[in-house]
Amino acid sequence: MNHFFGSSFLKETDFSAAELNYLIDFAIHLKHLKQQNISHHYLAGRNIALLFEKPSTRTRSAFTVAACDLGAHPEFLGKDDIQLGSKESVADTAAVLGSMFDGIEFRGFKQQTVEQLAAKSGVPVWNGLTDTWHPTQMIADFMTLKEHFGRLQGLTLTYVGDGRNNVANSLLVTGALLGVNVHIAAPATLQPTAAVQALANQAAAKSGAQLLLSTDPAAAVKGADALYTDVWISMGEKVDVAKRIEQLLPYQINKQLLQQTGQESTIVMHCLPAFHDDQTLVGKKLAAQFKLSALEITDQVFSSSQSVVFAEAENRMHAIKAIMAATLGNLFIPTNFFE
Ligand code: CP
Ligand code: NVA
Repeated sequence: MNHFFGSSFLKETDFSAAELNYLIDFAIHLKHLKQQNISHHYLAGRNIALLFEKPSTRTRSAFTVAACDLGAHPEFLGKDDIQLGSKESVADTAAVLGSMFDGIEFRGFKQQTVEQLAAKSGVPVWNGLTDTWHPTQMIADFMTLKEHFGRLQGLTLTYVGDGRNNVANSLLVTGALLGVNVHIAAPATLQPTAAVQALANQAAAKSGAQLLLSTDPAAAVKGADALYTDVWISMGEKVDVAKRIEQLLPYQINKQLLQQTGQESTIVMHCLPAFHDDQTLVGKKLAAQFKLSALEITDQVFSSSQSVVFAEAENRMHAIKAIMAATLGNLFIPTNFFE
């Protein structure tokens, strides 16, 4: 008997606050098992398909290692490896994969694709990021917050930057569900859409989370327990780079902004990858063209003791393991557990 068995995780609102909290706590438990070298083969003999239309370091690695730790076999199917979208429809691909694999991860562009895979495959589907949501990232992020502060309810997380991307959407809605106050500081044209705001407001009315959407970074960071940012241009976005940089420069996480939280205990988060120095090809190009050595976060803050970005990245693996084990594993979670 497993309450979660057969569920997909396509967006944060697929689960209740109690279910999300369970997954966070289960991820923390699985992390301890791994640290103590205690095996946890909840998915022995299972086969997992990993579909990627967009590149990935963390999500791909996390799904691969988590599947192996759980005793399953992961199979990577990149955009040039399969027919999806070119010679074969999403529905046909879903039917075929569902007949062979026990679970499917999808990272790509349209939310509709991951929804269709879930509708037509007959197996659990996990959203490894679409243009709209990044739900597996949320279990890791809120797990990181819980590990650090020992609680979630009543914390304040401020996101600064592009307030309309997948990560901003997911943070706003997840925080609202879990009773974490979420502040977003973004230019007027990059605020969350009305639809995302409506979902978040509905959840906040139930959890008591206080939400603040502002164009003023100083006001939004005041009292924040965590500052969070993400890249200014997301994968697949076609925008005028110079214009986007100009628009978002006032929203950079730097020493001054960090000090404006008014507390020394504030932690700094980023889902990664981050442009915090000129050590990458893109970073070098930006430095040459715009005379900037960092975009959304300065290296000084990224590398400071307040930054938890690499703990957060590691937690992707534990979180994804919890999600896969819960929705596909042979666990005892009574079906009335969350009533
Ligand atoms: N944070 C995250 O999803 O990283 P990747 O794009 O490397 O998977
Ligand atoms: N918003 C970013 C997140 C990367 C993990 C993107 O979609 O590129």
